[in-house]
Parts: sequence; structure tokens; C-alpha cells
Amino acid sequence: MSPTVDGANPLRDALDRRLPRIAGPSGLVIFGVTGDLSRKKLMPAVYDLANRGLLPPGFSLIGFARREWQDEDFAQEVHDAVKEHARTPFREEVWQQLSQGMRFVQGDFGDDEAFETLKSTMEELDKAQGTGGNFAFYLSVPPKFFPEVVQQLKKHGLADQRGDSWRRAVIEKPFGHDLASAQELNAIVHEVFKPDQVFRIDHYLGKETVQNILALRFANTLFEPIWNRSYVDHVQITMAEDIGIGGRAGYYDGIGAARDVIQNHLLQLLALTAMEEPASFDADALAAEKTKVLGAVKIPKDLSKGTVRGQYAAGWQGGEKVIGYLQEDGIDQQSKTDTFAAIKLEIDNRRWAGVPFYLRTGKRLGRRVTEIAVVFQRAPHSPFDHTATEELGQNALVIRVQPDEGVTMRFGSKVPGTSMEVRDVSMDFAYGESFTESSPEAYERLILDVLLGDSNLFPRTEEVELSWNILDPIEQHWDRNGKPAQYASGTWGPVEADEMLERDGRSWRRP
Ligand code: BG6
Repeated sequence: MSPTVDGANPLRDALDRRLPRIAGPSGLVIFGVTGDLSRKKLMPAVYDLANRGLLPPGFSLIGFARREWQDEDFAQEVHDAVKEHARTPFREEVWQQLSQGMRFVQGDFGDDEAFETLKSTMEELDKAQGTGGNFAFYLSVPPKFFPEVVQQLKKHGLADQRGDSWRRAVIEKPFGHDLASAQELNAIVHEVFKPDQVFRIDHYLGKETVQNILALRFANTLFEPIWNRSYVDHVQITMAEDIGIGGRAGYYDGIGAARDVIQNHLLQLLALTAMEEPASFDADALAAEKTKVLGAVKIPKDLSKGTVRGQYAAGWQGGEKVIGYLQEDGIDQQSKTDTFAAIKLEIDNRRWAGVPFYLRTGKRLGRRVTEIAVVFQRAPHSPFDHTATEELGQNALVIRVQPDEGVTMRFGSKVPGTSMEVRDVSMDFAYGESFTESSPEAYERLILDVLLGDSNLFPRTEEVELSWNILDPIEQHWDRNGKPAQYASGTWGPVEADEMLERDGRSWRRP
């Protein structure tokens, strides 16, 4: 194919887009490197990226924590974490190269000397590994430390971008615990970093199945014409976990399910499901549409009818007896923290007016599953006898986010035989069957995007604030009104959640 008159070469451009996106010279500094997230997700993701050839040869990793470690101890920790949790196979030569660039800086966040050591370590790595002065700072620390770390980075000149080099801040959730604290935090972060230097992690956006929501909606003609109030009856977004809070009492108690995952993951899923088509797939265009739809979300007028919170009691899970939330280590006996939350939302725009979006999440539920179910209205007229369609439910399109990744379409079909009996059947797309390559972990994708400076998959300040805006009145209502309803572990949450949908003549799916 020859170039067109303006010099464009469509074949070359098409091939270019398929080339792997490889990060340029750079390094990553992880604060809170001794924590769970770092060991289970961040370190393995760095290794997986290196293993896939997506990191530059001199990539450097600096751990910063209070622990009395030497560089070798840190490298050993990373090694063990990689062996235990990496997605891709362990290859000695990849490990050898990666470990060349590993350093550890010991200190606490108030320690000026430690930040000076960090600075000299970064300079040393610039020379030894050729990182080009490009570093991302990953704040994998409890939110109360964000301001201090960010201020220290400023004070020691670590946030300054000299010449062509870049500095970026990666901030883990929760970003605040309400709108006011999120705004305060935003002000502190933006005193030091410009908006395009800040990457707020919502790891759900890094999941392949979540990115596929936009492909499904906007790369096809099949779904978009019916993706609106004329055809959709309601939408259910479920994020169910079978685990309890494990050793996370310190983080979880007082935060609860709604702040932990509805404010971020579930509202992002809602935004992607409900937003209008962006003009392009660049970060600004995506953020503009997500912001618009989040701004149109309406909470129920009567919060006692349109929201439910619960707390797990003892019960059975996977054949084992498990304890209740109040018996978990480190939990206050009077704790009113929600481990289950269900919320009915509406979206005030032409596409969605009158269509409820039911969100629910919980720990210690029947099984681990995250899905978005778009449930359609019944056919306006049925030529079949009522008895012939008793087993016909509503058509649904279910985006299976995890663990059994794919999409299911449910519709009615004639049961083979002499009578006209119609029953639900389903048609499935499963990632495992359609694609040979396994999906990268969310953190692989997100860390790579930070190093590439690609902010498409990171929520902006406005999105975070709008999400708190939705949740704040609900949390305040819960604070004023009693305790969460108890539900036995291993069930699908409190009966009040079922009643909430029954009042609307609907029921939750049992995935
Ligand atoms: C985190 C929450 O953001 O997501 C955890 O803080 C939750 O409470 C986790 O367990 C679930 O993530 P995933 O990817 O396993 O669904």
C-alpha cells in the first residue's frame, strides 16, 4: 500500500497500533512497600511487565519503608512475592536483570534524612541504570499519610520535573472518606503535582473485562440502539466477595463496604455502562462523558427504602464455619461498619430517566462474582399462552467481570416438542475460549500506563468528587439511623436487600 498524498500510510499506522507499548527509561518508588498490596499485586505486576518485555532494560524499583532492610533483603522480598503471586512463569534471566535496579530506603515519612537518601538513590540509579530522571512515586500507604509524603516530596525537590524528565504520583484509594476530605486531599496533592502528573488508582478500570464494556457498547451496532429507557427495565451491578475482612480490621472498620468499593469501583462501572459515546478514546473525552453521567446520578428520595446496609454474622462458607464481623480480630464490639451495601440509583437524563440502577456489594456472600446485568423489558405483547411462557424471564445482557470472564445473553427459546413452550436460554462468550492469551492483571496494565503517561484508565478529580457527592448523604443517613442488618455468612446479604427490590416488583439475580 502506498502512502496517501498527505504522507499517511494506513498499513503502517495499523501495524504501529499493534506494537506493544513499551515504557521508556524510568523507575518506580513504592512507599509502603512492606504492605499487602505491594507484596501481592505491585511487585508481581512489575515482574510480569518485565517478563513480557514491556519495561526498559534499566528499569529501577525503590522500596521505601520503616523496616530495617538492606537492598538485598528488599530484593529477596520481591523475589518471594514474585514467586508466590506473579501471573507469568519465573525466568531467572528476567529476574537477574530486574534485580540489578532494586534499592531500599529505610525511614519513616517524617524523616528528612531518609528523603535525602531517596534523592541520592534516585540520582545514583539515573547514572547506573539510565532511568533518565523519570520516576513515579506510588503511595501504597494509608490515606492519613498522603499529605505528609506529598509534602516531603515537594520539600526535597523530588516532584520537580527537570528538562524532559517526568515525575508522577500514583495514589491508591480510598481517596478521602467523604467529599470534604477528598477535596482537602486534592488541594494538597495539586499544590505539589500538576493534574497530568497525578494518577489515581481504581484497579477495576485496569481489568480487561471492564475495558471491554466500552468495546462492547461502542464497537458494535447490536447493543447501542436498545441501551436506553425504551428497552432497558433496570440494571444490576453486583460485586460479591466470599472472603471476610481478613487482617484488614485497621483499614476496614469505620470505612465499610460502600466507601471501600461503591464510591470507586461500582460507580466507575455504572459510569462506563451508562455514559454517552465519547468523541474519541483519549483521556479528556472519556473523563468528560464519565463526569457528565456521574453528575446526573440521583439518589433515592427516601433513603430508608432505597438503601440497605448489612454486616456479616457467623455462618458457613465453602463447607467451613466462619466467624461474624464483630468477632474478627481488632473489631470494636459496637461497630456499625457495613460489610454489605445495596443502593438504588437513577440517572437524570434522557437516555436513562426512570431506569433504576441497583448496586450491591458485600463480603462473605454466597460466592465471589462481579457482574453488570442489563435487564430488558418484557415483550410488549405475547401471542403465547401464559402457561407456555411461565419459565420465560426477562432478556438480559450480563457482562461477567470476574471470575468467569465473559458476556452472557439471556433470551427465550422454544422448548423442542409438540407444544409452544418458551423458556430462558443463554448464549455465552468466554474469554478463555475466544482468546489464547490470558488477560494481564489490572495492576500490570495500570503501572505500565503510569510509566507511559497514559491517563485513560485513571479517574479524574471531578469523578472522585462526584462519587463522594453521591455517597455522602447515604453515609450520613446510615450514621443517623441505627445499625446495619445482620446476615449469615455464605448467604446473599440481609433480607432487607431482597425486600428493597421486591417493593419495585423485581428481584436480585443469583449469579
Ligand atoms: C479493593 C477493596 O479495592 O478491592 C477490597 O479494598 C476488595 O476490600 C478488593 O477485596 C477486591 O478486588 P478484586 O480485584 O479481587 O475484585
